[in-house]
Amino acid sequence: MRVAEALALARARGLARLDAQLLLTLRLAKPRSWLLAHDDAELPAAVEQQFRASLAQRLDGVPMAYLSGEREFHGLSLAVTPAVLVPRPDTETLVDWALEGLAGRSRPRVLDLGTGSGAIAVAIGHARRDAQVTATDIDAAALALAQANARRHGVRVEGLLGSWWQPLAGRRFDLIVSNPPYIAEGDPHLPALRHEPRHALTAGVDGLDALRLIAAAAAGHLEPGGQLLLEHGADQGAAVRALIAAGGMQGQETRRDLGNRERCTGGMVGSA
Ligand SMILES: C[S@@+](CC[C@H](N)C(=O)[O-])C[C@H]1O[C@@H](n2cnc3c(N)ncnc32)[C@H](O)[C@@H]1O
Repeated sequence: MRVAEALALARARGLARLDAQLLLTLRLAKPRSWLLAHDDAELPAAVEQQFRASLAQRLDGVPMAYLSGEREFHGLSLAVTPAVLVPRPDTETLVDWALEGLAGRSRPRVLDLGTGSGAIAVAIGHARRDAQVTATDIDAAALALAQANARRHGVRVEGLLGSWWQPLAGRRFDLIVSNPPYIAEGDPHLPALRHEPRHALTAGVDGLDALRLIAAAAAGHLEPGGQLLLEHGADQGAAVRALIAAGGMQGQETRRDLGNRERCTGGMVGSA
């Protein structure tokens, strides 16, 4: 099979041309520019086999990031495996807000709850080299990947394994951020996300179980004047503002994502 035939096959099966080119460059370990100039090149048999296999996976909805093993987030290339949620561009809204909140604080202590690939923790630690960043996850494979991503970018991240506040007894932070699971268990979008870890996506019948737990105890883990910033579903802004108020925090504010949907809500504990 030649390069042009492989691309035509992918197109005939319904894969976008750019995705097909990316799959082929991954399997050939050559840049896209090579592909564009070598339409007639014959694919080695092993490459053709791998290409056909990854084409079938991609058509079955496996995220491109799992096939390439990489995803760019906040300008950083991160390793990604099926153990973690693929970092989403919308989550950069949370990181930008966190960095705004940290302006003017030196050596801030930052906590990322449910770190997954480490996207948020690494992006904050990379932008704020003086920050002391702690990241938690309930999944050991996710935590190991987050720490590998931190090392890749020369960022120091303390990793703690455990469920939400359980590994954090007695610890306080200047900023707590989290993009927890927030999809309702019966949500019709779940089948499209079936290749990502279920525990990274769903949180109870209304999707608010993790947000409830986090908001309820955050004030007890924040320094005076400290801030909590949470990502949530587009229809959960009002509920999360109420959870943050019920958790004893003030100044609830919601920010919108790149698609202009309510995506992140924050609150603060009072200054001493
Ligand atoms: C929506 S993903 C977010 C991952 C990453 N922070 C991001 O923004 O790409 C939620 C993460 O929460 C973790 N998680 C789920 N339940 C948890 C729990 N009980 N305690 C701590 N982390 C949990 C999952 O393993 C997953 O990595």
